[in-house]
Amino acid sequence: TIDQKVTELLSKMTLEEKVGQMVQYSGFEYATGPQQSNSAAVLEEIKKGKVGSMLNVAGSGETKAFQKLAMQSRLKIPLLFGQDVIHGYRTTFPVNLGQAASWDLDMIEKSERIAATEASAYGIHWTFAPMVDIARDPRWGRVMEGSGEDTYLGTKIGLARIKGFQGKGLGSLDAVMACAKHFAAYGAAVGGRDYNAVDMSLRQLHETYLPPFKAAAEAGVATFMNSFNDINGIPATAHQYIQRNLLKGSWNYKGFVVSDWGSIGEMIPHGYAKDGGEAAEKAILGGSDMDMESRVYMTELPKLVKEGTVDIKLVDDAAGRILTKKFEMGLFDDPYRFSNEKRQKEQTDNKKNREFGREFGSKSIVLLKNQQHILPLSKSVKTVALIGPFGKETVANHGFWSIAFKDDTQRIVSQFDGIRNQLDKNSTLLYAKGCNVDDQDRSMFAEAVETAKKADVVIMTLGEGHAMSGEAKSRSNIGFSGVQEDLLKEIAKTGKPVILMINAGRPLIFNWASDHIPAIMYTWWLGTEAGNSIADILFGTMNPSGKLPMSFPRTEGQIPVYYNHYNTGRPAKNNTDRNYVSAYIDLDNDPKYPFGYGLSYTDFQYSDMVLSSASLTGNETLNISVTVSNTGKYDGEEVIQLYIRDLFGKVVRPVKELKGFQKVFIKKGENKQVHFRLTPEDLKFFDDTLNFDWEGGEFDIMVGTSSQNVQTKRINWVK
Ligand code: IFM
Repeated sequence: TIDQKVTELLSKMTLEEKVGQMVQYSGFEYATGPQQSNSAAVLEEIKKGKVGSMLNVAGSGETKAFQKLAMQSRLKIPLLFGQDVIHGYRTTFPVNLGQAASWDLDMIEKSERIAATEASAYGIHWTFAPMVDIARDPRWGRVMEGSGEDTYLGTKIGLARIKGFQGKGLGSLDAVMACAKHFAAYGAAVGGRDYNAVDMSLRQLHETYLPPFKAAAEAGVATFMNSFNDINGIPATAHQYIQRNLLKGSWNYKGFVVSDWGSIGEMIPHGYAKDGGEAAEKAILGGSDMDMESRVYMTELPKLVKEGTVDIKLVDDAAGRILTKKFEMGLFDDPYRFSNEKRQKEQTDNKKNREFGREFGSKSIVLLKNQQHILPLSKSVKTVALIGPFGKETVANHGFWSIAFKDDTQRIVSQFDGIRNQLDKNSTLLYAKGCNVDDQDRSMFAEAVETAKKADVVIMTLGEGHAMSGEAKSRSNIGFSGVQEDLLKEIAKTGKPVILMINAGRPLIFNWASDHIPAIMYTWWLGTEAGNSIADILFGTMNPSGKLPMSFPRTEGQIPVYYNHYNTGRPAKNNTDRNYVSAYIDLDNDPKYPFGYGLSYTDFQYSDMVLSSASLTGNETLNISVTVSNTGKYDGEEVIQLYIRDLFGKVVRPVKELKGFQKVFIKKGENKQVHFRLTPEDLKFFDDTLNFDWEGGEFDIMVGTSSQNVQTKRINWVK
């Protein structure tokens, strides 16, 4: 068995070789942290068996070259190659938050299948994804990489991603090891400032932030990555409760945990370790198995073991976990098995993958507003003007963390090209940039206004630059940057009908546009096929079906705003009576656009929901059904959402909790009956003693088209 092989191998290894397995260095072509100067020394260390893994080494040639060095080591233990493959690889897909807006688990899984096939063909064994951090603060730039604010949706999406990445299982040639990150609560950084502290009750941690991780562990995710933040004063990297008691204890997780980049060493500035030695000691005691780029395990751990500060059993356990994955990946049988030029050529960025990306892109777009059915546009509009800094952009469509893209702009379909390809031959598509994304230059306004005046319809494309959302991209002001909103106002003054497309990695605030522009589509950053996906929606080849995975705030002062909040003792009844209730005196409580919201070109009507019973006992099942009719003019997909509210509890319960959803396709004029089931398992929550159970009592059952637009029936469920 693999266990026996690992034990046997460990018995032959020196302490330094064991620690070597726990060391991960970055290749030198791309680094998110400080660039390393001693690359030659690293190559020597690989030959001596002192490195277990490399990140950012990719390509069949490169990975083979590195692996050859490892094969010169005494025990010939292969390297693991890891990389951030987070929204596609050579074919890029919508950024993850955009993908989440599709609410389409099959497509999400398939996109990771493609990403894994492409990345593994480049010799990559391991992706640092999925990021399953729940995030309720759009100032945090990394909301882009997750699935939004909701634990239920985030868990389902995380599982779909893991299934997609790991395919038929570790060892298949087209599977990569997945990594549930960032463990834990990284998305709850105070003030939405990246790397900042996290301070929350254990109950909240268990209820909101840990479920996607627990589900990932149960689903067999190969690895975990811990996070930069501290949790209630203890850096996650050394958090014994989180990593030892929960993950490796009660969750019985057998994979390994990699630190985040430099996070072991960062315990010194955190003020939790006085030097590298103490950082290494605390990290291994706290359950971190692999040191990504802190370089303290290699320098400190052997010493700590020899002097008796760290038990060798901890090193054996960590190295053993890492070696197990190398065996499971088949690397001991053939360390070069993933590095295959032929596969790299044939299986990446091909027609099939791009076609999928195109469809996935349009399914991720969220239609926020469509007054007087201005959309879809006719392909025979005589003159269309595309205005805005994203019109002819290529790279920006990728979004942050598009590592494999390598500035190859030819491969990306710009919005201009996508629209031009679908407009009738006799129609004219004009273009004006209008302004840059993020400066005060208004010199291009006049030309843009003149261009708009010549057109029958104007498509404005605004948003944030692709390096404005992502790691370390926190923003305190999440409106359109630079002078983009002023440009929009100038164009609107021409009186031409304006359609606004918003390119972003996070929810932005754009109240003026919401109030004055008749049609708004949220296009995120859609990847390689962006222009085609957008044109498919603009011209109605595809009907929009995306729904927001995060609430969109009205102002930064409203953050965090999320649908599943508590009621408080003084709930605001409406938006006008704000006296001595839980409200702002100057702002509505509800978001500008709620969680689960998104329009279609067609209309969906919901019948009254039917419940199997209004009073249940014990382990019974509640069956819920509703018929949804497509009464509009287009075939389309609708995401039907099921929420519950537990009216009274040992601890207070949210006003709504998502408990199910289904995305169904309904032809125009037809209808579909949709069924949901609830059991007591779905009613469970963590109480004040962290006991996970349900309580009998009254529950509201809600079904609808968004978190704000539901019908409700009350039931009684006796325990
Ligand atoms: O995987 C990432 C992580 O999410 C943030 N820091 C760097 C890692 C490796 O690139």
